[in-house]
Amino acid sequence: MAVKVIQGLQNGDEGKGRIVDDLCFKSDKPVVVRFQGGANAGHTIYDEKGNKSVVHLLPSGVLNPNAINVITRSTVIDPKQLVEEINQFNVQKGSLIISPYCPVVMPNHITEDKAKYQAKLGTTAKGIGPALRDFYARDGMNLNSWFDLYGHTEEATVLYGYIGEAEKFLQDHLSTMDVLLEGCQGHRLDVWGEEYPNVTSSCTTIGAVFYSTRLNHKQIDEVIGVAKIYETKVGSGPFEELDEDLSEKYRSVGKEYGATTGRPRKIGWLDLDLLKEAIQVNGVDTLIITKTDIPVQVGVLKIKTLEDFWEIKELWVNGIDPLLDLLKKIKEYTGVKNIGYTYGENRGCIAFL
Ligand code: IMP
Ligand code: MG
Repeated sequence: MAVKVIQGLQNGDEGKGRIVDDLCFKSDKPVVVRFQGGANAGHTIYDEKGNKSVVHLLPSGVLNPNAINVITRSTVIDPKQLVEEINQFNVQKGSLIISPYCPVVMPNHITEDKAKYQAKLGTTAKGIGPALRDFYARDGMNLNSWFDLYGHTEEATVLYGYIGEAEKFLQDHLSTMDVLLEGCQGHRLDVWGEEYPNVTSSCTTIGAVFYSTRLNHKQIDEVIGVAKIYETKVGSGPFEELDEDLSEKYRSVGKEYGATTGRPRKIGWLDLDLLKEAIQVNGVDTLIITKTDIPVQVGVLKIKTLEDFWEIKELWVNGIDPLLDLLKKIKEYTGVKNIGYTYGENRGCIAFL
């Protein structure tokens, strides 16, 4: 049994959801934990038949009948959205535990996000920033106080059935279940990061694990960092994009449209120095590079380093072998202990060096 953090190392949309999904199906007794962000996240998941769906607030384990799903206290809850997802996935009582200490998004937060921050910062307009501002000012609500005011509503009646001691459940099951801590957004969207104010309004580095789940750092067995073989970004802020033709190729082959907003994602080359820094800050043990099949189909790949670019000319010549060389170089450059990669959308298309 192990506790693993799945941490995004870029701008979100690295493919964390599919890594969680893979690990979840490999375990007999998985617990999947959402501990941060809110409905601004969008994780694409697949059922046994390969049907695709997107979850925004529910943990990515909802399609796995063996999984317990847990939402711990700093996940920002929009009650209406969460109830919609609970109904959509027909989530059974006992398979989802929600902490009563989660901050709540109210309809006025969403209205304000749309009016003031959507155009200015490229937010997802889910009300996360205004809700957290009020929460930190102690003018906001957590689910407990929300139930006091709105307990009579239909949404509250549904949600109440899933409220429980989420963080205690984790402590009590560390030796009997595999705990998968599902990060949201990514390292560079951290509110404490260098790209402020073009960031989300919460902590997106490993720090969030501890204050939200109440696990301590000694209880983490492995930090899995996830990075895509090229960069993408939705929302505002500086970002070095590829030329239009190449961006369009990557966007269409890689299906690079926001899972939450449907916006086309900007495309850039993987920045190995930023990746190296993210690995250090988050204490990554295992780096997983996702979507390695996309450049093979596009036919062009470069990797950005401090000095210049690595041009990877042979990736698509012999199939997988040149890719392995590239992954070895990335491992060496970043100093990460272990490296793996995904090479297709389907569950199981994942390998380690
Ligand atoms: P907010 O989190 O909605 O306030 O948006 C702030 C910034 O974070 C915007 O650039 C969003 O596009 C970005 N963002 C928030 N959540 C995600 C995510 O899950 N994936 C990618 N970008 C995100
Ligand atoms: Mg996403």
